[in-house]
Amino acid sequence: MRLMLAPMEGVIDHTMRELLTSLGGVDRCVTEFVRVSAQLLPARVFRRYCPELAHGGATSSGVPVYLQLLGGQPTVMADNAARAAELGAPGIDLNFGCPARTVNRSDGGAVILREPERVHAIATAVRAAVPADVPVTVKTRLGYDDRDRFLDIVRAVAAAGASELTVHARTRRHGYRPPAYWEEIARAREICKLPLIANGEIWSPGDALRCREVARCEDLMLGRGVLCRPDLPRLVKAAAAGAHPAPLTWHQVLPLVRRFYDLNLSHYEAHYAPNPLKQWLVYLRGYYLEAAPLFERIKRLRDPQAVSLELRHAAADTSAATGLSMTA
Ligand SMILES: Cc1cc2nc3c(=O)[nH]c(=O)nc-3n(C[C@H](O)[C@H](O)[C@H](O)COP(=O)(O)O)c2cc1C
Repeated sequence: MRLMLAPMEGVIDHTMRELLTSLGGVDRCVTEFVRVSAQLLPARVFRRYCPELAHGGATSSGVPVYLQLLGGQPTVMADNAARAAELGAPGIDLNFGCPARTVNRSDGGAVILREPERVHAIATAVRAAVPADVPVTVKTRLGYDDRDRFLDIVRAVAAAGASELTVHARTRRHGYRPPAYWEEIARAREICKLPLIANGEIWSPGDALRCREVARCEDLMLGRGVLCRPDLPRLVKAAAAGAHPAPLTWHQVLPLVRRFYDLNLSHYEAHYAPNPLKQWLVYLRGYYLEAAPLFERIKRLRDPQAVSLELRHAAADTSAATGLSMTA
């Protein structure tokens, strides 16, 4: 089984990829979407979204990072895909799932699912522009308003010669509301041989095993669940092998939180570093109750030093409470 870390704009950037892939279990990442409208983007844009390009297109743990493009014009998408490949992207992923109104209004993301012919045209043009040894993958939802054309979309992607298709098992209209309709992915499995990756609403190892069964999919993509439980990929792989190791405790997660903050301090301007940290704590508190008071303490802090101090206090408090020594 393979597990992919989902692309999440504004949330899973290269520092988050660096941290999460260091914990094991992730086989591939995808960047946040790079918006392609009318022109060939300069190399610096690709390098900003994917600093891993400077290191062979992989995180320090060796996990490849595919570069995701979003746009509606086949030729410009193809030109940008070729440039990304030239810059060393190990794979190109095409986003046909983004539900954002602004994106959809300017002819990108899920709105293209209304016309499977365009999905086909874009994927075909990109496939032709990128060297044969660089995979072109596609990420889609089940449709825009409804699922009526889902199988046409799948056929379009397969006919374009894409290597894999990730299906976020909801329409654009469903937004992010549960449930995810994993059973639709099993329908796609019946009509084509294209490797499929199931995505949506996997929050626990149990969800992952159920999703694999219902979607009839070996491989999965995990998004918000990994932000709530950073060891989820490792736990899912263990569960698939019949093992059930103990999940990380808050005491073990806190050093990761501090490491993430340090990564942000070293990669971004210091005044920006508290923002991704606050955002991650909002996800973490969905699983770790202890993340909530820490978030409350830092949510209004802007001074990076003050945030560092709170993180040190939290580590000291947790150590005192558990009787363990600080590990980071
Ligand atoms: C804040 C946020 C940002 C996202 N950004 C992207 C993106 O840039 N590209 C993309 O293909 N999907 C994006 N997605 C969709 C996720 O990749 C994934 O398909 C979705 O969250 C369902 O998976 P999950 O239930 O495991 O989170 C985003 C989702 C969220 C919540």
